Order: sequence, then structure tokens, then C-alpha cells
Amino acid sequence: MTRKYRVLQRPALWFRLALLLLSAVGYAAAADGCSSVTFPSNRLYAACSDLPLLSSSIHWSYDSAAATLSFAFVAPPPQSEGWVSWAINPTADGMLGSQALIAFHQPDGSMGVRTYNITGYASISEGPIDFNASNLAAEYSGGAMRLYGKLKLPAGMTVVKQVWQVGSSVADGVPQEHGFKPENLQSMGTLDLIKGAISPSGGSTNVKKNVHGVLNAVSWGIMLPIGAIIARYLKKFKSADPAWFYLHVTCQIVGYGVGVGGWATGLDLGSKSKGIQYTTHRNIGILLFCLGTLQVFALFLRPGKDHKYRFYWNIYHSVVGYTVIILSIVNIFKGLEILSVDNKWTMWYCIAVAILGGIELFLVAVTWCVIHKSKADARSSSNGSDA
Ligand SMILES: *[C@@H]1O[C@H](CO)[C@@H](O)[C@H](O)[C@H]1NC(C)=O
Ligand SMILES: *[C@@H]1O[C@H](CO)[C@@H](O)[C@H](O)[C@H]1NC(C)=O
Repeated sequence: MTRKYRVLQRPALWFRLALLLLSAVGYAAAADGCSSVTFPSNRLYAACSDLPLLSSSIHWSYDSAAATLSFAFVAPPPQSEGWVSWAINPTADGMLGSQALIAFHQPDGSMGVRTYNITGYASISEGPIDFNASNLAAEYSGGAMRLYGKLKLPAGMTVVKQVWQVGSSVADGVPQEHGFKPENLQSMGTLDLIKGAISPSGGSTNVKKNVHGVLNAVSWGIMLPIGAIIARYLKKFKSADPAWFYLHVTCQIVGYGVGVGGWATGLDLGSKSKGIQYTTHRNIGILLFCLGTLQVFALFLRPGKDHKYRFYWNIYHSVVGYTVIILSIVNIFKGLEILSVDNKWTMWYCIAVAILGGIELFLVAVTWCVIHKSKADARSSSNGSDA
């Protein structure tokens, strides 16, 4: 019989946004397991770190000569029949690729630990993991589960990417999917086995990347094109003058303001991303900022309506404007690629671009018809007066 289970599910878009607001609350709610958890004398650990989420803590001793890690992970499962898990992900941040240990009440009622090489979101299956695991044991008392183990790590692996999780149920020896609260989705980060330092940096960087993506997609990718469409089509209608101009300027200035915010988050991410450089994405971003700024300041240098240079200014303004829009869209797709987020995000942005393109085409058709008709009317009325 097959069963659907999903552990450590990937966050949905709205959920990632909610994370921004709620992660602070989650971090604040962490319990101090290091000071309150005591172990029997045969299980003493040299170091401990309270984990920022899920009220959990990791206690460990690292033997650098043998490269072995003895640890205890302590966390309260949401239900007594639930599970707790601690994993090292040797290849990536987050759930996929993690080498997980999961503790839960086994079908015979005793507490036990099983190992899982997590390769997908949709299902997990028990099996060997990359690190030789021994001394696996688990206990449940006082509402918390303790997962004990010893892992043989590759020599030199002293900073690990850890992922931890809790779930509320187990069916026929199979842990069922966990919750999707922010604390379930952000429970990852690095653990320095020597220094004892933990950092949720993986998590907070992901949040920053999402903020960066949303700000830039909305401003450069949606508001500025809308502002351009307003200028291009509304100004053809005499009745829309000067309303189109104020609408256009408002849209572009707000878009530019939000865009600069997004751009600054990008600089911050770039400065923190040591060793990895997304040169093209960064250079396009810098160019966009320069061109966008130029557009805003060009507004102040705009010659009067009847000035002989106004024609050239208009051409210059349109060329730079369209360049900004095209580069923005290109760069947003580049950014989506870097995030390597689920195709859902890319799909949503494709839909947004398609809608903008559709509006553009629709307006091309409408203005053409209207202008054609008014010319035809003008022609027929002048013909009429001639007769
Ligand atoms: C875990 O799964 C990955 C991907 O399928 C595989 O390459 C790796 O060898 C597996 N590790 C173990 C220990 O089975
Ligand atoms: C794992 O460790 C045990 C005990 O230290 C050892 O007997 C076994 O050979 C190891 N297995 C692997 C695959 O390294």
C-alpha cells in the first residue's frame, strides 16, 4: 500500500512572505534547552546550542581526531505519537539531500531512531545515510523526545548544515508530514562543531533573497512597465492630459523608490555571498539602477513642450525607459534562476509579464482604432464642409 507523506515541505509564496513577519516571533519563542536538559552521566556532551526554532536544542561532543560526532537532539513533538528529526545536509540548505535521523515510537511502542536519505518532498524512505550512524537511541519523557546518535563525518567537516524538524504523527512506522508554520520551514542553519556557534544564516538569507525578489519583481518588473504603458497610451487621448502625466510620474517614482530598496537588498546579499558571484545578475542590476536614476533626474531637465529639443528628449526618454523595462524583465528571470525556486514563482512572473504584454497589445489595438476612427471622422467632416 502506498501512502502520501510529505516531510519538510517547500514553502508556498504567501507563506514565505508570512515568514518575514513571523520569524522574529519564532526566534523569540525558543526555549533554553541547554540550561534545562540534563543527561545521565554516560551521556555527557561538551557543547550545546539552543536552536532558534521549534523549542529544540542540540548537545554534542566532536572528536576531531576520529571525526565523530556524538550528539543528542531534544525537541517536543506536537503530539506524543509524533516524531522529531535532526539531520545534516552535506550538499544543500534545507530538506532535500539531508541525511536525517528521525526518532519516534516504533510500532512495538518503544522509542527508536531510523535513518533517512531525503531525496524528495513527496515521500521519504528509510535507508542508509551518507554518514555511518551508530549508538542510535531515543527517549520520550516530559513531553520532549531525545534523539541520540553518533555519526562518522568526513575528515574536516567541522561546520555542518543542520536541519531539524518535528511532526505530529507516525503511521505504520512511517513519519507523516510536518506542519507548515514558519518555524517548520525555517528550521535550518549551520552548526560549527568546534566553535559551538550556530547561525540561522541559511534561513535568514533565504528570507532576504525572497524580500529582494519580491521588491524587485513588483517595482522594476511590474510597476515601471505599467507606468510606461500609461504614458504611452493615455497620452494619446487629449482628455487624459495632464492626468496621464501625473499617473505616469507617480507610478515611476513609487516604482523607482521600491526598486531602489530592492536593489539595496541585492547589494547586501551580494556582499554576504562569499565565494559565489552572480556577475551578470549583479551587473545588470547596477546598470538598471543607473539608468533608472537617470530617468528620474532627466525629468528635471525636460525641455518645455514646444522647445526644439523636446523631440529628442522624448526619444531619449523612451529608449532609456524601454531599455530599463527589458533589462528588468531579463534580470528578474535571471534572479529566479539563481533562487532556483520552484517553477511556481517563475510561472507567476511569466503570467504577470504575459498580462502586461496582453494589456499592451490590447491598448495598441484600441488606440489604433480610436485614432484611425477620429482621423476618418475628421476626414469625412472636412470632406463634408468642402462639398
Ligand atoms: C542518497 O540519495 C542520493 C540521491 O538519490 C544518492 O546519490 C546517494 O548515494 C544516497 N546516499 C546513500 C547513503 O544512499
Ligand atoms: C560503520 O561503523 C561501524 C562501527 O564503527 C563499522 O563496524 C562499520 O564497518 C562502519 N560502516 C561503514 C560503511 O563504514
